[in-house]
Amino acid sequence: MSHVKATRLSKVKFRAPDLDRMQHFLTEFGFVLSSRDARALRMSGHGDSDCIHITELGAPAFVGFGLEVPDDDALDHLAFQTQKKVDDTEHRRTLLLSDPDGYEIAVTAESREALSLGEQSAPKINYPNVTNRISETKRRFSGPSHVMRLGHVVLNVASFRESESWYKLHFGFLTSDEIELEPGVSIGAFMRLNVGNTATDHHSLFLLEAPGDPSFNHAAFEVSDVDDLMTGHDHLRRNGREHSWGVGRHILGSQVFDYWKDPWGHELEHFSDGDRFVASNQPNVATLDDLLGVQWGDIHPLMRAAEETEL
Ligand SMILES: [Fe+2]
Repeated sequence: MSHVKATRLSKVKFRAPDLDRMQHFLTEFGFVLSSRDARALRMSGHGDSDCIHITELGAPAFVGFGLEVPDDDALDHLAFQTQKKVDDTEHRRTLLLSDPDGYEIAVTAESREALSLGEQSAPKINYPNVTNRISETKRRFSGPSHVMRLGHVVLNVASFRESESWYKLHFGFLTSDEIELEPGVSIGAFMRLNVGNTATDHHSLFLLEAPGDPSFNHAAFEVSDVDDLMTGHDHLRRNGREHSWGVGRHILGSQVFDYWKDPWGHELEHFSDGDRFVASNQPNVATLDDLLGVQWGDIHPLMRAAEETEL
């Protein structure tokens, strides 16, 4: 049982050999520049004052991600529990941990300014029997999506149970949906933050024990709404970016999704309208078909390949 509960997924960190190229892609993807120097590029979302995507200069790699805990006491407790030292030299106290597959988890105490996502007025949508927009037109112009915040990280892990235990022990993650290949054989789980009665994403972390070496699967960023996601889809297509999967609506998590690759093949997702749960929601068991299936839209590349083989 964890005494410390992570409250926010704060950032993802990559390495790439060309920061100009990365900045160009991320701008087209919908981020805004936070700061940059010779060694690192920091990009933020439109609604978030903190940087949520960091690229250090180096050979292409996914380095790890950041988690916030409620306060300095929680940070110190976690340092004691893991027998690691908090780094006090930077402007923010940081505890660097290695997860079971060696990814860097940068733990910090909650940052007040990072929580100011800003007020977003709900899009006015007309339905057959509800008029929310009257005497007013709806105009979207072309251009990038508006990335608002980091939503989740997905890791292909060496051992699902080992990684699950580590994240639950140190950060209090809760299972939303566990994926079974067959009864009693689990290969992964969608896990959410334990923030009590506050609604939180169906998953901030998804661990999947996939064939092959442990690897980064993807990171997902919420955009302002579905229209914004589609506008960004057209923009990335027009600019010749590498598309991976979408658009569609997932079954598990329910979000509308669209997957793209950065110039070094790391997959990033745009999403909108995902499920939000509270701590008291009970875990669910789901199948591989639930994981890969869609409610509507583009079917998973693995399923598409299987269908083409059958023809
Ligand atoms: Fe995702």
